[in-house]
Amino acid sequence: MRGIMGQARRKRILLGITGGIAAYKAAELVRLLVKQGFEVQVAMTEAATQFITPTTMQALSGQPVLLNQWQDEAGMTHIHSSRAADAIVIAPATADFIAKLAHGMADDLLSALCLARDCPLLVAPAMNKQMWSNPATQRNVQQLAADGIAVLGPACGSQACGEEGMGRMLEPAELADEIVASFQPKLLTGIKLLMTAGPTYEAIDAVRGITNRSSGKMGYAIAQAAREMGAQVTLVSGPVALTTPVGVERISVNSAQEMYDAVNRRAGDADIFIGVAAVADYRVAHPAEQKIKKSAAPMTLELVANPDILADIASLPNPPFCVGFAAESERLAEYAEQKRRAKKLPLLVGNLAQQAIGSDDNELILFDDNGNHPLPRADKLTLARLLMQHIAQRYKGAKL
Ligand code: PMT
Repeated sequence: MRGIMGQARRKRILLGITGGIAAYKAAELVRLLVKQGFEVQVAMTEAATQFITPTTMQALSGQPVLLNQWQDEAGMTHIHSSRAADAIVIAPATADFIAKLAHGMADDLLSALCLARDCPLLVAPAMNKQMWSNPATQRNVQQLAADGIAVLGPACGSQACGEEGMGRMLEPAELADEIVASFQPKLLTGIKLLMTAGPTYEAIDAVRGITNRSSGKMGYAIAQAAREMGAQVTLVSGPVALTTPVGVERISVNSAQEMYDAVNRRAGDADIFIGVAAVADYRVAHPAEQKIKKSAAPMTLELVANPDILADIASLPNPPFCVGFAAESERLAEYAEQKRRAKKLPLLVGNLAQQAIGSDDNELILFDDNGNHPLPRADKLTLARLLMQHIAQRYKGAKL
């Protein structure tokens, strides 16, 4: 079976659970990681077993839970289990466990295998806000960062103790995204990526408008893939019903003109610009402020052309590396290549509108000066990761 991101061997996560109320969320995290194709080995501290049972974790992970140092005859559980892992994730990580990590303590199985590891360690703190802001905890967290340990969160919000503040563990879906991201090649570290996604909405009156069926799925998948690869991503998005990928800055707009303004304000700072949005070519010349009343007479709407965001960015004196998209319903190669040349783009991504819009899967053809390069049908996130690898190579090539 091919596991996460199409790799032949499934990646192994050792998930360490320590004793905090957020331990119940670790059950959902295991479920999400298994669904993503990871093999998950759970290890629990004694305190964690007060909050959630090893039986639950065993059932979800499909593996016996590691509970103490003496589970193999040689007493080498900490070495064997940490060597078998591609990454160790501690979620939730209590203030006490963070202190142990910061000081290199190894007085139970979980802290011992963290100390013995030769793989990345990711830690998701979860604690009361006072415990989090305590200078001792802050010192310890800084020490983890200095030791190359990834600290995921915490978030701000209501706490199990009834207080409100910083210290909530990130949600399982956010943690799963961060864990997947940690395995992606960091080809875009330090790169600023500006992009558009989704449809635009051109008002006719106070309640009606012209839009299209773009769901934003392709663009949001690209934003996620780019961020996973280390880019700093700003996503200018038309109206969609999607959650913003973790770590991505989202600017919400409605009309093509708003999208144009938002992109232009940020273009000077961008290294790469990708236009994935299905931008309305026309807008209503005089949208009515109030709802237009029905009448028996035929109605005509006067439309005027919108600015072309991508073409304008690509023709700046010192443009970012520009990538366009084209959704065509016929003669894809011919029309896509025409668009690429007309907008003077080093790279254009073609897809068939009837297969691409709104769907979870897609099929892409990349057009550049060297010809075309197909990316066969797959889910949009898989395609986005392949596309971003291609863009990273082309961007670096263009810079040489
Ligand atoms: O959102 P999904 O449901 O996942 O669907 C994804 C998608 C089909 C919308 C996406 O994959 C896609 O193909 N987007 C481009 C749609 C299109 O055909 O755009 P276009 O041919 O109108 O424009 C060509 C390029 O110029 C695009 O990069 C577009 O963003 C850009 N453009 C167009 C018009 C305009 N006024 N400004 C622009 O920047």
